[in-house]
Amino acid sequence: MLDALKDELLSQVNAASDLAALEEVRVTALGKKGRITGFMKELGGLSPDERRERGQQLNALKDEIATAIDARKADLARAHLEARLAAERIDVTLPTRPETEGRIHPISQTIDEMVAIFAEMGFSVAEGPDVEDDFHNFTALNFPPGHPARDMHDTFYLPDAGDKKMLLRTHTSPVQVRTMLNKKPPIRIIAPGRTYRSDYDMTHTPMFHQIEGLVIDEATNMGHLKGCLIEFCRAFFDVDDLPLRFRPSFFPFTEPSAEVDIGCSRKGGELKLGNYGDWLEILGCGMVHPNVLEACGIDSTKYQGFAFGMGIERVAMLKYGIPDLRTFFEADLRWLKHYGFVPLDVPSMAQGLTR
Ligand code: DAH
Repeated sequence: MLDALKDELLSQVNAASDLAALEEVRVTALGKKGRITGFMKELGGLSPDERRERGQQLNALKDEIATAIDARKADLARAHLEARLAAERIDVTLPTRPETEGRIHPISQTIDEMVAIFAEMGFSVAEGPDVEDDFHNFTALNFPPGHPARDMHDTFYLPDAGDKKMLLRTHTSPVQVRTMLNKKPPIRIIAPGRTYRSDYDMTHTPMFHQIEGLVIDEATNMGHLKGCLIEFCRAFFDVDDLPLRFRPSFFPFTEPSAEVDIGCSRKGGELKLGNYGDWLEILGCGMVHPNVLEACGIDSTKYQGFAFGMGIERVAMLKYGIPDLRTFFEADLRWLKHYGFVPLDVPSMAQGLTR
C-alpha cells in the first residue's frame, strides 16, 4: 500500500511543472494534513512492533519524497534560468542592419566635433542646468538689475516659486559662473548646451544651442584668446587659411569685448568660407570682466582670462550647408537621413572631422 502511495507521490513530484505546483504536491504529501502525515498520526493505534516497522517505512517514504521534491525544485530552477538566459541572449557579434540604422543629429555631431577640437587644446567639458536663476544667468555676469542688456535676451521666466526668480537660461554663460564658483583657477572649460529665448522666425527658434568657453589663470591675455579661436575655426571649418576678424563690441561680462567674423564669399548667391574679402559674424568673446571674477569669488587682481560664446546651429548650418534653421527641430526623418551622421562616425582630430 505504501508502495502505491510512493509511486503516486513521486509521479506527482515529477509532473509538477513549476514551483507553485511542486509546493502543492509537498503540502499534499508532507503538510500538516498531508497523506504521509495522516499515516503517521495512525501509528499510535498500533502495537509496538507494528509501530516500529511502520514508523521506519513511513520515515523512509517521507525522506524519499522530500529528496525527490528538492531534486525537482533544483531542476525547475535550472530550467527557469536556462530559459531566461536563452530569451535574454544578445549576440554582440551581429552586424548592424543598415536599413534600420539611426542617424546622429547634426547638432550632436557638431558638438562632438567642437569637443574634440577643444579637448586637443586642453579644455574639459562643463555643464549647468537649463533652468537657471537670475543670479547665474544675469547678475553674476555683470548685468545689474534693470540693465537694458537683460531685455535683449527675450527671457522665458518661470512662474514665481519662492524667493528666487527662475528662468530658462538665455545663454550658456551661467556655466562660467557655476564653474568659477566651484573650481579654483586655472580653469579651462567649454560648456555646450541648450539655451532659450522667446523668439521665432527664419533665423530664431525658442530653443537653440550654444557653446561657451572660459579660460582663467594668472597670465592669459587677448593674444591667447585670438590664437585659440583662430585655431578652433580653422580646424572646425577645415579651411587652413581661414581669416578671422575681431571687431570691438559690448557684452556686460567681458571687457574688452569683441565679435568675430570669418572670411567668406557670397558671390553668385553661394556662401563659401575662406580668404575672399567678405565677412560673416560667428561668435562673441572678450576678456572676463573683473566684476564677474569678483562675483564668483575669484581675486581679479591676481587672475584674468577670456571667454567666448557661439551659436551651434549657425555654424552647423554653415559647415554642412543646411539652409533653414527651423528644420533642425522638426524631427523629420527624411531630413535626418539626409543631414544626419552615421553613428560610428565619431569625430576626432586624428581621423579628420569632416566626412
Ligand atoms: N552669452 C553671449 C550671448 O548669448 C555670447 C557670449 C559673448 C559669450 C561673449 C561669451 C562672451 O562668453 O565672452 O549673446
